[in-house]
Amino acid sequence: MSQATSKHHLPGDLTRAEAVARMIRVDHAGEYGATRIYAGQLRVLGRGPKAEVLRHMLEQEQAHRSTFEDLVIKRRVRPTALLPLWHVAGFALGAVTAALGERAAMACTVAVEEAIDEHYAAQAAALGDDEPELRATIETFRAEELEHRDIGLANEAEQTPGYRFIYGAIRAGCRVAIALSERV
Ligand SMILES: [Fe+2]
Ligand SMILES: [Fe+2]
Repeated sequence: MSQATSKHHLPGDLTRAEAVARMIRVDHAGEYGATRIYAGQLRVLGRGPKAEVLRHMLEQEQAHRSTFEDLVIKRRVRPTALLPLWHVAGFALGAVTAALGERAAMACTVAVEEAIDEHYAAQAAALGDDEPELRATIETFRAEELEHRDIGLANEAEQTPGYRFIYGAIRAGCRVAIALSERV
């Protein structure tokens, strides 16, 4: 009977709240990083034939980022302390892959967007019927990340020399970045 009183639910609620806070923290970090990656690619390829498609993806990432910036404020989530790192590392990843060529830039997009797709799918599953609004946001963004992945594939990502290596290295980097940004 005592279980029905709200006091006894407090520890569980805190855990759930922290779980949601972690999701918002890491998603904010990821979308922040995504805007920096496309900004880095555009710095190198901004006058080339892929500029328009890169700008399209950057604009969508900016919208994702600003949604999570709003959520960080509204839900009083502590942002990751690593934003300055993602500011530099995201831009560098974008610029370096773009310097390797248009196909390498697209290989970076495929790797990053597939990592985010997997990450968002896991979050949506974990949320279940909790937080329907947050879940809907995640599903909407996930569909756009998959659109970005498809843009990468349509622009010959897989034809870049060393595709498997570039893809694997960036996927591994994304996993580390996600694990860090949830906690730090
Ligand atoms: Fe995004
Ligand atoms: Fe994306």
